[in-house]
Amino acid sequence: MANPTLLILAGDGIGPEVMGQVTRIIDWFGAKRDLAFDVEHDLVGGCAYDKHGTPLHDDTMKRALEVDAVLLGAVGGPKYDNLDFSVKPERGLLRLRKEMDLFSNLRPAQCFDALADFSSLKKHLIAGLDIMIVRELTSGVYFGEPRGIFEEGNERVGINTQRYTESEIDRVARSAFELARRRGNKVCSMEKANVMESGILWREVVQRVHDTDYPDVELSHMYADNGAMQLVRAPKQFDVILTDNLFGDILSDCAAMLTGSLGMLPSASLGAPNADGRPKALYEPVHGSAPDITGQGKANPIACILSFAMALRYSFDQGEEATRLEKAIETVLANGARTADLMGEEGGTPISTSQMGDAILEALDASL
Ligand code: IPM
Ligand code: MG
Repeated sequence: MANPTLLILAGDGIGPEVMGQVTRIIDWFGAKRDLAFDVEHDLVGGCAYDKHGTPLHDDTMKRALEVDAVLLGAVGGPKYDNLDFSVKPERGLLRLRKEMDLFSNLRPAQCFDALADFSSLKKHLIAGLDIMIVRELTSGVYFGEPRGIFEEGNERVGINTQRYTESEIDRVARSAFELARRRGNKVCSMEKANVMESGILWREVVQRVHDTDYPDVELSHMYADNGAMQLVRAPKQFDVILTDNLFGDILSDCAAMLTGSLGMLPSASLGAPNADGRPKALYEPVHGSAPDITGQGKANPIACILSFAMALRYSFDQGEEATRLEKAIETVLANGARTADLMGEEGGTPISTSQMGDAILEALDASL
């Protein structure tokens, strides 16, 4: 059988540095676990703009639709801040999400025991935290029409539109309920049904999907502002949080920081299954391109490596190998390996991006 195919889009800033460690991990699975991938590399974001004048070339888009999974590093940087909106690096990422129809964005916020002291919250609130945010990713105010900056009388008006169809809410709700069944069996859906019609419809459809097909899953609803408050008050009350594109963007950054470091958190963006049963999928760290530390070997590669672990689990049905990789990372952290973002108040000497890669490869070897 042919090897599964991976398209790596390392992107901008620290993207190529952290992805460099991921390719070492991929090679390890090929060499030691008989799990070889056919890997190809291409450009996205600012680097694609520099070469092609667009943040995502059509050929790259085409390949993304053909491969079994896409791994993305990060996009953007100060150099591109003044570009026209239509060619900003972020547009490349948004185009991938939209054209691959990756409607379900899984953002776990998990607290590693070794890092529980890193949280801005008290340790007992955070130790053992394991929540999953399911963010709708291809609709809502990110894509709704009309949008733009228009003339109105003697001034301009900026317009974006929050828009959700029933079927868009239905399919992402299903993915949250399916996921909940494999975890703590609880879903909390967040919207602003108190002020937004799209929120009223959201709540109604989520409840309907639940009552019809997932009555065994515990469902609650919360206004998103209260959700933000509850996330920092008592985060362990949650299992799966289901929410829309914009609220999910905000709530997932909040949940991520609860765990102590953005440098630790992966994500998976999944679409409808292909003919072979695999969902269209893109995996990326939650953190951005971190221009302030780019090129210094300081970046933490763990979020990107954990994103590959999610690919093993959700695209390639290799849950055990994903767990092996996650456990190796736990071991390395428990042994005290820390990149600069994980230094905290303990002090000590941080290790570099590639030293973190070395340590994880060693722990993987030791797992055999
Ligand atoms: C994210 C990011 C993106 C978003 C940006 C880079 C377009 O913040 O993935 O959370 O807003 O969705
Ligand atoms: Mg964001």
